[in-house]
Amino acid sequence: MISNSLLGPLVSAGIIGVGKALPDNAVSNQDIVDMGLDTSDSWITERTGIKNRYIADENTSSVDLATIAAKRALEDAGIEVDSLDGIIVSTTTPDYSMFPSAACLLQSRLGARNIFALDVSAACTGFNYALSTGSQFVRTGQMKTVLVVAVDCLSKFVDWTDRSVCPLFGDGAGAVIVSEVKEGYGVLTIDLSSDGRYGDILKVQAGGSRQPMTQDSFDNKDHLIQMAGRAVFKTAVSKLVPSIRSVLEKYELSVEDIGTFVFHQANIRIIEFVKEKLGIADEQLYTNIHKYGNTSSASIPIVLDDKKSSFKDGELVMLIGFGAGFAWGVNIVKWGGRL
Ligand code: UT7
Repeated sequence: MISNSLLGPLVSAGIIGVGKALPDNAVSNQDIVDMGLDTSDSWITERTGIKNRYIADENTSSVDLATIAAKRALEDAGIEVDSLDGIIVSTTTPDYSMFPSAACLLQSRLGARNIFALDVSAACTGFNYALSTGSQFVRTGQMKTVLVVAVDCLSKFVDWTDRSVCPLFGDGAGAVIVSEVKEGYGVLTIDLSSDGRYGDILKVQAGGSRQPMTQDSFDNKDHLIQMAGRAVFKTAVSKLVPSIRSVLEKYELSVEDIGTFVFHQANIRIIEFVKEKLGIADEQLYTNIHKYGNTSSASIPIVLDDKKSSFKDGELVMLIGFGAGFAWGVNIVKWGGRL
């Protein structure tokens, strides 16, 4: 009989520690106006809900932020790095465009040894994909403890003269420790989806195998984010409403059963639209987009970190990600249950 085989009993896998990291440099809407862009604090606030974001300086990379967030999550969980069996990093802005992976760099920076390290690329939905992947390793008993980090520094890939894109994004990292929890707690559901037909509405054209970087690509700014904002907005709301409804239906839950809805913080109007459609109450929603802007896949774990001290034991927390790909995903986590 092989011990630790895939046929062993399933365990409940949940979040036992959370941390976040933001760059030092706060940039307000007025700072963006002062850069000379034809915009205003009121336009950005009303159309997006964003008042402030943090921007990494030229010496700060995604792995720098990931390292701080990971150490804070380990501390929050009260465990040492030696307890980790694996690291999953969700990012579209790794330190190097191809390899080594951000997860391998993070493993080295943390001083973890000989453990599984994997990057996940699912843009703003990356945390849902990474948490879903990590929690299944724990659930099947293949790993006891997995670090899941979501980090993005999109500010390094926006055109700072394009008012329709640059005010939206901020940099940041959020990390969680996934480990066994009491039966019935933890990650209860995994519902991930994608529709690549919408790939063109949010894309970085150059730097991949389709169009490797050339001087022309650089001069055309093809290495920077191109976004059809209105199309992204419409696609997001059209996918999210039915998808949240179907998750609730599938698990025989109602909107009222969810303690807190944690949306990817892309635009307050997207969140408000879905809230109205589904009849989510004010007290079931927590947003922090005004403080950090859209930090891509880091936004959900950053919300978790801001909110962690007020979640109740056993509260159902719904994590809703969406973004480039087009990809979207919903997880329900029963909070607490630490063994
Ligand atoms: O993680 C996913 C990432 N992406 C998103 O979540 C983006 C989702 N989309 C959005 O958040 C919104 O579509 C935006 C905030 C990007 C734009 O808001 P909108 O209400 O859809 O505006 P719009 O694109 O329809 O543009 C309306 C007007 C345009 O001017 P004209 O053509 O009507 O004269 C834009 O040029 O607003 C103009 N505009 C601005 N004006 C002042 C666009 N950006 C700005 C700006 N300041 N920063």
